[in-house]
Amino acid sequence: MKFFLDTANIDEIGQALDWGLCDGVTTNPTLVAREGREMEEAAKEICELVGPDRPVSAEVLAVEYDAIVKEAQERAAWAENIVVKIPLIPEGVKAMKTVSEMGIPINATLIFASTQALLAAKAGATYLSPFVGRQDDAGFDGMASVEQIAQFLRMYDDLDCEIILASARTVEHVIRGTQCGAHICTMPFDLLQKLFKHPMTDIGLDKFLADYRAMQEELGK
Ligand code: E4P
Repeated sequence: MKFFLDTANIDEIGQALDWGLCDGVTTNPTLVAREGREMEEAAKEICELVGPDRPVSAEVLAVEYDAIVKEAQERAAWAENIVVKIPLIPEGVKAMKTVSEMGIPINATLIFASTQALLAAKAGATYLSPFVGRQDDAGFDGMASVEQIAQFLRMYDDLDCEIILASARTVEHVIRGTQCGAHICTMPFDLLQKLFKHPMTDIGLDKFLADYRAMQEELGK
């Protein structure tokens, strides 16, 4: 499973890169606004920071077909690793078809049901982003949609997409994503940090180091 960081924060991306745990970045208008930045300059800086081999999703703000296609072309020109995020609305799906035929990679966003993912897959999206945490918040089992998408992608060779498990909130989301074969999990920085944590690792490390120190003291070293 590839790990994407779901953030527009440069320090967080830098830290994840340093750990060797950043295979790409997803942003959205909320995340960019949180940094108080314009979409274009933020996306360009992130693309340069992560390098050309890591995809960076930048979302369109338009909601009508012509404007979505225009914004998609503009964003694709910002950097070679830009993936254009297009929302799962009828005008968006129509635009996905056109934009994918232009050879521009698409991340279909705001997917809350496997049927919506199927529409995006048929329109040529490169990535399908089911929003798991937000489905859970609304009382649904978000992971069920990911499992259903993984199943239909396995069954139909002509649907050539990768699943981005999005709106991931918990370690359990990551585990269940690996179990059903989600290709990518995009996660906020705090979730990435949580993946390291286990109390027994800390307890075990303290004991190893204390035992070795005690032996050295005994030998007068
Ligand atoms: C996906 O690409 C979105 O940016 C993101 O995962 C949304 O997550 P949230 O529900 O935590 O805002």
